[in-house]
Amino acid sequence: MNMKKIPGHAELEIRKLVNDLNYHCYRYYVLDSPVISDEEYDRLYRRLKELEERYDFILPDSPTRRVGAPPLEKFAKVEHSEPMLSLDNAFSHEEIREFDRRIKRFLKSGDRVVYTVEPKYDGLAIELAYRNGMLYRASTRGDGYVGEDVTLNIRTIKALPLKIEGVEIPEEIDIRGEVYMDIAEFEALNREREGKGEPAFANPRNAAAGSVRQLDSSVTAARKLHLACYGIGAMKGIEFRSQWEFIEWLKNARFPVPVIVRLARGIEEAIDVVKEIEETRRNFPFETDGAVIKVNDFAMQRKLGAKTREPRWAIAYKFAAHRGITRIREIAASVGRTGVITPVAFLEPVSIGGVTVSRSTLHNWDEIKRKDIRAGDTVVVERAGDVIPHIIAVIKEKRTGREKPFPPPGRCPVCGSLVEREDGGVAYRCIGLNCPAQVQERIRHYASRAAMDIEGLGVKNVELLYSRGLIRHFVDIYRLKKDDLLKLPRFAEKSAQNLIDAIEKSKQAVLSRFIYSLGILHVGEYTAKLLAGNFRDIEDLYHVKREDILRIKQMGEKTADSVVRFFNDPGNLATLRTLKSLGLRITNPDFEGEGAKQRPLEGLTFVITGTLPEPRTAVERFIEDNGGRAAGSVSRSTDYLVLGDSPGSKLRKARELGIKIISHEDLMKMAGRRGSP
Ligand code: IVH
Repeated sequence: MNMKKIPGHAELEIRKLVNDLNYHCYRYYVLDSPVISDEEYDRLYRRLKELEERYDFILPDSPTRRVGAPPLEKFAKVEHSEPMLSLDNAFSHEEIREFDRRIKRFLKSGDRVVYTVEPKYDGLAIELAYRNGMLYRASTRGDGYVGEDVTLNIRTIKALPLKIEGVEIPEEIDIRGEVYMDIAEFEALNREREGKGEPAFANPRNAAAGSVRQLDSSVTAARKLHLACYGIGAMKGIEFRSQWEFIEWLKNARFPVPVIVRLARGIEEAIDVVKEIEETRRNFPFETDGAVIKVNDFAMQRKLGAKTREPRWAIAYKFAAHRGITRIREIAASVGRTGVITPVAFLEPVSIGGVTVSRSTLHNWDEIKRKDIRAGDTVVVERAGDVIPHIIAVIKEKRTGREKPFPPPGRCPVCGSLVEREDGGVAYRCIGLNCPAQVQERIRHYASRAAMDIEGLGVKNVELLYSRGLIRHFVDIYRLKKDDLLKLPRFAEKSAQNLIDAIEKSKQAVLSRFIYSLGILHVGEYTAKLLAGNFRDIEDLYHVKREDILRIKQMGEKTADSVVRFFNDPGNLATLRTLKSLGLRITNPDFEGEGAKQRPLEGLTFVITGTLPEPRTAVERFIEDNGGRAAGSVSRSTDYLVLGDSPGSKLRKARELGIKIISHEDLMKMAGRRGSP
């Protein structure tokens, strides 16, 4: 690898950059307390990459090594040096006490046992093998004895140390932990998949498992996975006396550990910690369905040993699940913006964990078939964390014979168009372009938070405006008049004004959001960002060619075809031109291509005086978004005075100091914003 001769100073700089970047990664992803800005991090990263390429010298723990491996054909099998066991469950505090009594009986001792208590992470168990301090292999649990080699994928998890640091380095150590996905991330991913017409993941655990078991590690890299380490396998050249000592070591070695690990003297203290975790778990960004109680002392753990599948020294207490039993009144098919048809169950309202649940997604027809769900069935519904409620089982004994199966539709339930089955997949799609359900969903999508973020344009209002013929397309949003709104039942003076203001505000957008908001098939938030990184302006995408899209790394063929189709359609291009003429102004801070000026106002200080064509706060944000500084008063360090109507004393001061005076339009041009307000 290291063919060229590398000068000493360059090697030193590379080593320092790798060390610094790994430290900042740790501050950011493990401690959640960064000490430098993202921009600074990116700058150091780019510098490292440049040096590595120039000298062909890449250290094994370089952060640039986390990504960039070609896809695998299949995963290799890995035998665990010690089996990865599962855990026995306890469902009540009494069963926890019974666990404590069992331990004392087994040890033939009445002494108080010291335990550790941790949340139980609901993800995918993995084993991380380190040799001489370097991550050498990561594998899934598999059947407990043999798992799969997922090293390339696990390396992309930013919180994972590629090298053990900060402690004495053991010759060998196998660390175990859980890879998981935060609830917010899981929901964003599902939204993205919905946009691409792909089936949603049923829960964060499936999403994490699906992300780790990916042959293409660049897919894993794009999913924000987390890690919590809590266990140990084989080791050499190091010893620990207890779980507590081991967790302390993990922390010093910069590994992420469970958010809560408490030492409990005796089982009653352990139960108190279990209660504490149950109470605080709603604040966790991830899902937990229980707490794990472990005998702290390793010598005692060894004495206790294991049954076939579970150790005797640990138990998982399962929180009372957020489950309820109710009846499905009706199943209906709902049509999304890309035409994907999703079955939805309408339930007799049931209170689960203090929240009333009256509908539940059924995901797709394979799911309906697998669980044999029928209208009229009595079902078990689960609501975990903030996740959308879903049906986990049908209570077949309650069937009366009048339950009705819900077959996939032959025609769109909304517009009657034909339905096509996506290539072998589980999705059914309405092919009617003017299907009102799709149109309304497209408008709602356009206005949604991750897209153009127009507050007040949710499902209900879109439906209302659509049914009154006020909006038939998202372009019409910008033609809405306050007077039109005031005629509608749901609007009064203030709410109408708020909506008009929100629409006005949305006219200023960044390109990635705008692309996402267009609802192009297979283009979710992530792909939209990729496109914005590679095309400076929306106009640069007009009539785009397939090769130009495929040149972008990570862009798949299906997505490329869809993007090309969209931007070569005369109707779509007319829509985009109309949007511009209605006052949409798009900037692109994500652009990275040739001649990219990501922060065109970098290093410049602006002062605003007088009234501008848009609110002052918006202009200030615009300056800052583009790298500049917006100051309140004129001084020698001011670079430009932005002059509006009826200026104040700042103008005189600026003239005295000889500071350049520019218009609002000049400012827009400096930042590369095309089109005038
Ligand atoms: S300790 C000998 N601690 O739960 C087993 N497991 O149901 C040692 N899990 O396979 C496991 N959080 O994937 C342990 N804090 C935690 C955990 C945890 C989640 C998972 C793990 C295990 C499964 C057993």
